[in-house]
Amino acid sequence: MTGDWLNPEFVAPLLLEWYGREGRELPWRGTRDPYRVWLSEIMLQQTGVATVIPYYQRFLDRFPTVSDLAAAEADAVIELWAGLGYYSRARNLHAAARVVTTEHGGLFPEEVAELQALPGVGRSTAGAIRAIAFDRKGVILDGNVRRVLCRLLAVESDPRATAVEKELWRWAEALTPEERPHDYAQAIMDLGAVLCTPRRPDCGRCPLAGLCRAKALGLEAELPRRATKKAVPTRIQVALLLERDGCLLVRQRPFSGMLGGLWEFPAAEVGEGGDPSVMARRLLADLGLAGEPAEAGRVRHVYSHFKLDLRLYRAAVAAGFAIAEAAASRWLNAAELAELPLHGAHKKVLSDLIQSQPSTP
Ligand code: ADE
Repeated sequence: MTGDWLNPEFVAPLLLEWYGREGRELPWRGTRDPYRVWLSEIMLQQTGVATVIPYYQRFLDRFPTVSDLAAAEADAVIELWAGLGYYSRARNLHAAARVVTTEHGGLFPEEVAELQALPGVGRSTAGAIRAIAFDRKGVILDGNVRRVLCRLLAVESDPRATAVEKELWRWAEALTPEERPHDYAQAIMDLGAVLCTPRRPDCGRCPLAGLCRAKALGLEAELPRRATKKAVPTRIQVALLLERDGCLLVRQRPFSGMLGGLWEFPAAEVGEGGDPSVMARRLLADLGLAGEPAEAGRVRHVYSHFKLDLRLYRAAVAAGFAIAEAAASRWLNAAELAELPLHGAHKKVLSDLIQSQPSTP
């Protein structure tokens, strides 16, 4: 990645001119409020613009300032995040709001090192917040920018390799102008999101096409080279649909760990070579119940690092029967369940149930 032919000073003016003409209107673009900028950047970390917009607006309606968010219950934050995925972002968001109120007097810091010290804020997000909220030079290397730079410089090696990543940061820094950091940050991210897209880059409309090494070599659709995907394992779990008086039992997952704070039907992992029906019986016994749970279907769900094959079992519990349950569990009817932040796989369970028997649970 020598990039000898590329004069870094040519890039920003072309991008800024394009952004002035074709930049998107997005809800967070009308503001310099660091709280709103930070919130949008965290939501956009692993999620596309179209999905984020309604969540962003609901979140701000409920928590208009960082101190409102800091004062919120963890449950309320998780509830508003349910469906956006990557739930550690919600936990970090809440923790960061508390750091901003307790350690920075309710004002977001402007320096990259201090921004990066906030939970959930990495180097690139810190650069984006600094540039967008404070209009100070902030260097960004998120997924969009990484793709743009890999093409511009025709990077053929794995962009995640440490040495390549380091070079990309060096280039990201060199291309970022001192002038108009706010606009440049939006422009470079928009270019990656709108024109320099992963599969079919629209080079015909790209302001940087004349400088782009990948385009000159006919490699624009092939770069960046995707690291060969590791095989994703399948994990089998069982979930119990326990019915009592027209209600189903649900429990809340611990706040730390995967899908923290979200709700689910009682579930357990079936170890390698294990028998789901044996595990379903054991789960029932752990709740203080005897009996034979009946097979009730199956749901599949894909996570970033595994595929879930969820086997459902049904069992009835006598009216009024109290079971061995921890505090974070509830018996809820269909309407109540629909309001609860269930995580994705168990939300599918619920919608399958509603479709198959509209009158129960
Ligand atoms: N992706 C990450 N941050 C973004 C922003 N501010 N605008 C558009 N896409 C983004």
